[in-house]
Amino acid sequence: MRDTTRLTTAATAVDPSQISEIQYALSLTPRQLPAWLLYDDLGTALFEAICHLPWYGVTRVERQLLSRHAASIVEAAGRPTRLVELGAGSGDKLATFIDAGWPLRPPLVAELVDVSSGALQASRLRLAALEHVELKTWPLSYEPGLQEVARSADADRRTLVLFLGSNLGNFDPPDAELFLRQVRAVLGAGDALLIGTDLVKDARTLQLAYDDPLGVTAAFNRNLLVRLNRDLHANFDLARFVHEARWDAEASRVEMHLVSLARQDIRIPDAELAFSLEKGESIWTERSYKYEAPEVMRRLADAGFAPTAQWCDTAAGFALTLAHADD
Ligand code: TRP
Repeated sequence: MRDTTRLTTAATAVDPSQISEIQYALSLTPRQLPAWLLYDDLGTALFEAICHLPWYGVTRVERQLLSRHAASIVEAAGRPTRLVELGAGSGDKLATFIDAGWPLRPPLVAELVDVSSGALQASRLRLAALEHVELKTWPLSYEPGLQEVARSADADRRTLVLFLGSNLGNFDPPDAELFLRQVRAVLGAGDALLIGTDLVKDARTLQLAYDDPLGVTAAFNRNLLVRLNRDLHANFDLARFVHEARWDAEASRVEMHLVSLARQDIRIPDAELAFSLEKGESIWTERSYKYEAPEVMRRLADAGFAPTAQWCDTAAGFALTLAHADD
């Protein structure tokens, strides 16, 4: 395996240019924090643990679908030789997919984009076993990551972009469309996009998936405050915040909140912020929209793709959807 990684960034520091994002999010009503803050090294490890929880099915079901239908997906995508995964995490699903989808081991290029350098490190180890895969990793958020992906495009290679883990659901609908359009813009005729989306299911299952009895999800969410204390010298008292997952059936989304247990004064010196939280007031940290399978096809079409095929696990409520970029 050749590793052509060029960029390296500190895993935990908050970039000064990102501070304005934090200031803006906290100025909203209700107050919010940007979700990328969840993924420092500890957050990445906690998220990896979430993927192993019996109550969080997304990762397991998706890996199963990828492995079971790999051959038909590869065929339907036109036998791509360049794979791009956005938000790759540990790289485990991509490795499973490559393993099952290309049994003859032709030379492939895989480019992984992730905000977490820790996750990319894990994915390099995981994919090192696949000697026919040339790996590039981009420790970047989606937008700058897509720019690098566009820059390294190779006219001789058909590209398949993978956007898995129900990550599309972490965008509000207008942002989801914008994001899909950005992906579309870096693809050429014949290239394709595969997205994995969690589907609407009963409230209790969703509740447990985002607020597990072991408390790992709570730790993942509350670690965001640990990070702000460490990186921006904030004064969040962890004992005064609880994790809450709320299923909003009308909006079809699970909301992750950090609820303040008391009236308290918050200071974040490195972001020049000072504000108070009322008892019961929350900071909204992430959203996870749940779709109906046909809706995913529609949204892809709305963003300029030609949706071509779908593989669903109806019992578990999960869909893989393939769409082509046509000119
Ligand atoms: N993409 C994942 C999802 O929406 C992210 C996620 C899983 C998450 N569990 C979480 C985000 C808990 C915040 C809190 O399923």
